[in-house]
Amino acid sequence: MDLNTIERNETDSASQSAAAASAPAKKVFVKTYGCQMNVYDSQRMTDALAADGYTATDVIADADLVLLNTCHIREKAAEKVYSELGRIRDMKAERAAVGREMLIGVAGCVAQAEGAEIIRRSPAVDLVIGPQTYHRLPDVLARVRGGEKIVETEYAIEDKFEHLPQPKRAEMIKRGVTAFLTVQEGCDKFCTFCVVPYTRGSEVSRPVAQIVAEAERLADAGVREVTLLGQNVNAWHGKGEDGMEWGLGRLLFRLAEIPGLARLRYTTSHPRDMDDELIAAHRDLPALMPYLHLPVQSGSDRILKAMNRRHTAKDYLALLERIRAARGDIALSGDFIVGFPGETDADFEATMGLVRQVNYASAFSFKYSPRPGTPGADMPDQVPEAVKDERLQRLQALLLKQQQDFGLSLVGCTIDTLIEKPGRQAGQKVGRSPWLQPVIVDEKAGEIGDIIRVRITKTGYNSLFAELA
Ligand code: 5AD
Ligand code: SF4
Repeated sequence: MDLNTIERNETDSASQSAAAASAPAKKVFVKTYGCQMNVYDSQRMTDALAADGYTATDVIADADLVLLNTCHIREKAAEKVYSELGRIRDMKAERAAVGREMLIGVAGCVAQAEGAEIIRRSPAVDLVIGPQTYHRLPDVLARVRGGEKIVETEYAIEDKFEHLPQPKRAEMIKRGVTAFLTVQEGCDKFCTFCVVPYTRGSEVSRPVAQIVAEAERLADAGVREVTLLGQNVNAWHGKGEDGMEWGLGRLLFRLAEIPGLARLRYTTSHPRDMDDELIAAHRDLPALMPYLHLPVQSGSDRILKAMNRRHTAKDYLALLERIRAARGDIALSGDFIVGFPGETDADFEATMGLVRQVNYASAFSFKYSPRPGTPGADMPDQVPEAVKDERLQRLQALLLKQQQDFGLSLVGCTIDTLIEKPGRQAGQKVGRSPWLQPVIVDEKAGEIGDIIRVRITKTGYNSLFAELA
């Protein structure tokens, strides 16, 4: 399951489309916390609301509906949501004073985990909706406008994706040349630290036809790079167009046939689900980018066992060897947890050793945070905060050094870059390397959506500078 914690407003997807010309359009403000799947979900909710007459706004005080799409993976995520709700409640009161409504909704994994507790603690909240029921959002809103408070966190029997409207083509074009596409949701692995199996439910794969159709629509709207998403994306499977059972590798081959789609990625994977066909895709499919996010969490077999990862450090290293043999220029990324209950200095050193051995191009590392309801939270020998802090600092220093060395190793090389957007500074455009680094080029180097050959001239903190090759 993926990580890079981000907070953003769903402004890019501000949809002007469905606003009725006569009535003043209702406005929705969506704030997204957490992983890429939440970013994707926020877009799909925005699309569902567009069909219901809402346009997106990035000015919260203007919003008739405020929707927080929350994350529950680490830290005091729920507490952060409650304090944000306190601020929004004040805005709701200000709007009420001038006779204007502001509905407040909580979606995402905190909604799923906390349910009715949210409305009990924050009575200003009008609706709580879990990730499996986003397609019911317009109905739920209609009932809320009728005066009800709604908590909708039951797992739906019907297929959410079949009922969620697709965005308009103009809207897709506005969202840019890279896109996320959820192909799998939920997790059956039950790592003992992780809340995902409880908030996102058990593993569900979307059918091939749905995925292909969505990818074709994206390509038709100018999208050049699609990242397939799933908490356990490489566990995706489905009945193929040939009647055979397909895995993610086969699906990638199929998606690579879609005209216009030049680049494919997928995230996040579990080591146990990297099968031969997926490794073969890395060997044989030029569109599949040579970058793999494959979390290991710890380098200690004792801790891996306690985490219920169901593989050893040696298994992981052997797997990487096979993947590297298939695709020599593949760059690796990972997730790490320090301070899992019972982690000794020796266990932590094993993690440091594994990181040195693998040499990551990028990685995410976290202090263990007990999640209510998960087995890890009740384990003895919880590690003191100060020890976690110290270990995290050391691990992050090593990972940062590896990331910077990886960037430096590219200086002087000629690589492909997908131009994504205007740069922050005038005269520049920003592209993306095959290894996900931002690449800064002169704005005349190409148009957005072009894939150009560039020579890397120097590195920035987290980016590369390049000139046309
Ligand atoms: N504490 C710390 N990190 C966690 N992650 C998941 N659950 C926890 C937790 N309870 C990390 C893992 C996972 C990533 C998405 O977040 O490294 O791969
Ligand atoms: Fe969480 Fe483990 Fe499932 Fe990833 S594989 S979502 S870490 S339970």
